[in-house]
Amino acid sequence: MQFFIDTAQIDEIREAVALGVLDGVTTNPSLIAKTGRPFREVLEEILEIVDGPVSAEVTATDYEGMTREARELAAIHENIVVKIPVIHDGIKAVRWCRDEGIRTNVTLCFNPMQALIAAKAGATYISPFVGRLDDISSDGMELIAEIRQIYDNYGFDTEILVASIRHPMHCVQAALMGADVATIPFKVITSLLRHPLTDNGLQRFLEDWKKVPR
Ligand code: G3P
Repeated sequence: MQFFIDTAQIDEIREAVALGVLDGVTTNPSLIAKTGRPFREVLEEILEIVDGPVSAEVTATDYEGMTREARELAAIHENIVVKIPVIHDGIKAVRWCRDEGIRTNVTLCFNPMQALIAAKAGATYISPFVGRLDDISSDGMELIAEIRQIYDNYGFDTEILVASIRHPMHCVQAALMGADVATIPFKVITSLLRHPLTDNGLQRFLEDWKKVPR
């Protein structure tokens, strides 16, 4: 399973790159707004730091606007993946991007049919938002299982990119279900390695090491 980081904060991206297991980055308009900086400036800085797919989202909601923004974003760098919402005009734009050789990440997916239609349109990635489904007492990870089965049934190569991850168990389940990518907030990435028995065990080793004659 590939690890992307779901952030536009440069310090977090640098730290995740330093860990050596980061495969890509996803952003969205809310994450860009949190930086307080211009979109293009942030995007170019991320592209300098990360050697992998970087998702950048269109903000138009009509076909002409989305395809224009997609063309502009894709021209910035070969690693750009254009993020497009799974709405009527969005699906038309995804098909256009596929025909133009522009990679897409279809976002705001909350049901399996949205995922099937995105795949039929030629999406590179589908982003089901698991945390936001859990937030409304639905089952986000059940959606991942359903999409996995549908894509496998018909041999779609659209990659399942688990988004809106809130905690390590979302990552564990994503890996068990065969999701292709998990896009993970920085604070969840840092919590993935933590285990009290690891900390206690290390502490004991270091204490015992002091008793070894030098
Ligand atoms: O980037 C899309 C998605 O990961 C957003 O997550 O936490 O705003 O639901 P969240």
